[in-house]
Amino acid sequence: MTDVLVEKLRENRDLGDGELRELIEHPEHDAALAQAADEVRRGRYGDAVFLRGLIEFTSYCKQNCLYCGLRAGNRNAQRYRLSREEILSCCDEGYALGYRTFVLQGGEDPYYTDDMICDIVSAIKEKYPDCAVTLSIGEKPRESYERYFAAGADRYLLRHETADPEHYARLHPDNMSLENRKRCLFDLKEIGYQVGAGFMVGSPYQTTDCLIADLRFLQELKPDMIGIGPFISHKDTPFRDEKNGTAELTLRMLSILRLMFPYALLPSTTALGTIHPMGRELGLKAGGNVVMPNLSPVQVRDKYAIYDNKICTGEESAQCRGCLEKRIESAGYRAVTDRGDVRRS
Ligand code: 5AD
Ligand code: SF4
Ligand code: FES
Repeated sequence: MTDVLVEKLRENRDLGDGELRELIEHPEHDAALAQAADEVRRGRYGDAVFLRGLIEFTSYCKQNCLYCGLRAGNRNAQRYRLSREEILSCCDEGYALGYRTFVLQGGEDPYYTDDMICDIVSAIKEKYPDCAVTLSIGEKPRESYERYFAAGADRYLLRHETADPEHYARLHPDNMSLENRKRCLFDLKEIGYQVGAGFMVGSPYQTTDCLIADLRFLQELKPDMIGIGPFISHKDTPFRDEKNGTAELTLRMLSILRLMFPYALLPSTTALGTIHPMGRELGLKAGGNVVMPNLSPVQVRDKYAIYDNKICTGEESAQCRGCLEKRIESAGYRAVTDRGDVRRS
């Protein structure tokens, strides 16, 4: 049975708000959505799944996002910072495992000055010129983004979190705004980065209208990457008693994104793997084509606790790599070790 709405979305890469609401709110489209998304993804990227080695280099953060376990106000959080040398040895290990993209992610930690970030980026690029370096270190002035780019950073991940300003205000303290978040994303794009935006699924107070606003904002930004994952409560945050997002809605949104943005790099996230034992495999089958295994040293892994019960915190990088490869193959895809740049056409 063909699903008329799903076929319309595949054809037009767009739908009206009412039609999107129908897809978002009704599970009966899910099978058709996932199948169409997988076809579109195979048409553009074949069975390739791109690997990004994730280095969580600081668990300090000056911000206070209400949902996040690394928020400055969490006195129970265990804080650590990796040195330049520790970061470089993660890259050495990652390179040997076949990773050709390194993602340096951290809280907003003023300890790392722009000079230090530039020094680390240029050291990685010098040692591994065939690799892409992705930064994910939050909101910065445009000048900082320009400096990192000049030092060799190729990509930047900054989820917009929610495109509804009122919803944004309920997830963040008063010093943060959707306006500045958007400013950052458009600056990054203008500078020349490959940009990743994205949002949480099932975050507190999120409505279907919020999700439609997310899709509309992404149509405006046209990012190369779109990272989404379920909200998962963290015990030491104001949202400790809030319900988690579901795998079902996350998978549905992934498929809708694949049909609206056929070219996009869509990670099947660790958060999805955390709320469902087969979450990442299902994410790939629903249109995802990227996974970001952890390359951080095992001693610090469980300290980068943005939400509770995060997976892959006990495994060595090589174990995670092997486990992931099997999972990717079991889902019917193939882990590839090139840079995995976006294919816009
Ligand atoms: N559950 C799920 N995702 C979260 N993030 C932060 N806190 C949580 C949480 N409790 C996501 C945000 C952020 C990314 C690094 O992790 O979307 O951008
Ligand atoms: Fe800091 Fe990012 Fe967590 Fe917000 S989501 S508290 S900016 S690490
Ligand atoms: Fe990390 Fe399985 S993917 S241990």
